[in-house]
Amino acid sequence: MDSSTLSAASKSVDKIIDGKAIAQTVKNELAVEVAEASQGKSRKPGLAVVLVGENPASKAYVKSKIAACKAVGIESFLIEMAADVAAEAVAETVKKLNQDQAVDGILVQLPLPNHISSATILALIDPAKDVDGLTAVNAGLLMQGASGLFPCTPLGVMRLLEQHKVSLKGKQAVVVGRSHLVGKPLAMMLLQKDATVTICHSKTANLPEVCRQADILVAACGQAEMVKGDWVKPGAVVIDVGINRVESADGKGRLVGDVAYDQAFANASLITPVPGGVGPMTVAMLLSNTLRSYIVSMKQ
Ligand code: GUN
Repeated sequence: MDSSTLSAASKSVDKIIDGKAIAQTVKNELAVEVAEASQGKSRKPGLAVVLVGENPASKAYVKSKIAACKAVGIESFLIEMAADVAAEAVAETVKKLNQDQAVDGILVQLPLPNHISSATILALIDPAKDVDGLTAVNAGLLMQGASGLFPCTPLGVMRLLEQHKVSLKGKQAVVVGRSHLVGKPLAMMLLQKDATVTICHSKTANLPEVCRQADILVAACGQAEMVKGDWVKPGAVVIDVGINRVESADGKGRLVGDVAYDQAFANASLITPVPGGVGPMTVAMLLSNTLRSYIVSMKQ
């Protein structure tokens, strides 16, 4: 490889936002903070995870959350319930966890089976233990620009942007997706940092054109490779929140994001890969929220 090819190759690697490495840095910092915060205390921070049913993706996510807790010194409590459990039993479990002194964070893994209303269950979580940031209290605090516990994936996206010193002030940010878990809270966080934010969704007219206005383009729509390369303005920062399993030519499954990565790569100045972009950050920020909740609880 001659020197010009080499520099072109390293330049294109520089475009990739390495979420796995940044999440590891965050977890290393958290391990130190957990040790400091719990020194001389009667207990360590604790996260309770409620897993209902056998959804394989949910099981895999929960497994990685529990392993990450262990790696940074956070205690975890896994409550597994059968897919046909009564909604009342899940509600009682959450209420018990609200009262449990060893638990700083409660995470009810979503989606819940169809016969259980996630809105009803999530509303029962004590906002002080709501490490997913999904209660109305925490959503309201985010909307007000106050401090609270906020959803982990948007927090992770903001951390990636911060790590890469992406300036947001006065920039056009377009968020494709309006979920409670990602799109809406992320839009609020970007707004808080003085970006001009557009939230798009399945009914948005001229979606490609709106995306082409974006200095920061976030895809969180849950549709495999929906955002095409020519929707990306040259020089834009592209954040792909999607994780979709698709069948590849050899019949094996592979993971792709909500962005057509190879096409978008050419136009982007920075881009997150899937896997290894936003995903690992979600878990890191969950640990961070649990530690924050612990620190507040130990002060009381
Ligand atoms: N399912 C997929 N992502 C998440 C998440 O961040 N939190 C919860 N509770 N469930 C999820």
